[in-house]
Amino acid sequence: MASSVYLDMDPGHDDALALLVALALMPVRGLTTVAGNQTGDKTYLNARRILFLANQLHLPVAPGYNRPLFRNLVTAAHVHGQSGLDGYEFPEISPPDRSMDAMQFLEIAFAKEQEPVVWIATGPLTNVAAFLIGHPHLHQKISQIAFMGGSLSGGNITPYAEFNTYVDPDAAAYVVGCGIPITMVGLDVTHKALLAQKDLERFRCLKPPIGEMLYRLFTFFAGHEPNAGDRGMPIHDVLAIAAIANPGVFTWEKISLHIERCDEKRRGATEIKRPGSGYPEIKVAVDIDVSGFFEWFWQSLVYYQ
Ligand code: BDR
Ligand code: CA
Repeated sequence: MASSVYLDMDPGHDDALALLVALALMPVRGLTTVAGNQTGDKTYLNARRILFLANQLHLPVAPGYNRPLFRNLVTAAHVHGQSGLDGYEFPEISPPDRSMDAMQFLEIAFAKEQEPVVWIATGPLTNVAAFLIGHPHLHQKISQIAFMGGSLSGGNITPYAEFNTYVDPDAAAYVVGCGIPITMVGLDVTHKALLAQKDLERFRCLKPPIGEMLYRLFTFFAGHEPNAGDRGMPIHDVLAIAAIANPGVFTWEKISLHIERCDEKRRGATEIKRPGSGYPEIKVAVDIDVSGFFEWFWQSLVYYQ
């Protein structure tokens, strides 16, 4: 793939894995972090931790919003632990260079791009929405936004909503309706592509410290992800990377989508509306070739052998 890729993440175990897969396969030009799985300070630190261990700290990483656009932050400490990446003892790393925040970084980076970029988001869509609202002249620099979030088949943080759209439904609704082509990868597919517990051993074949780190992180995750069980654990955010790097493993549908912002009970629910009813039409992953996906996934990690 030729287009530059930018990532927006809230690491998070599955974000960390998605980041490593993206670095292995794509021309990633920058990473911004957002509050979600944990507070903004922690997700920023976690992103730098992963880049450090992957020998990629030269990649620009900039911290973004510490809370949703209009609401208090809800974190997923019950899934990702107090650090946001519990399960592995990370080494100390040098203090970050915080001279540029996510909005400043993206403004400069997107303006410099010659061709429209692909933007992949795997946390609440706060940074993405805030950037789009503040920089309408730069929408033309973005060819596509792919996000992990939403669900057409029930939620994981409430019976109705997936975590990322629940945390910042206002941002998600803005992004989905912004006019840029949007790709949604939600629980409909992430709950089908389960990483088997026995396959965690395969991480240990990767070079140190990446292999051992992934083994320990996902051993923790297996014990905490609410939808992990005998059949394995979802690795949600990796599927947003696959949506761009290997879209053929998904079945896609054009869907008119509503994101609930007003009814607190259904907050963040992503609901199908009648075609042509005025709701934004986006591309949604509705099914996945699970074995094709895992073949691609393990192949991508050969980069770290
Ligand atoms: C999403 O919520 C987070 O906990 C994960 O990182 C993923 O982005 C799954 O609902
Ligand atoms: Ca995430």
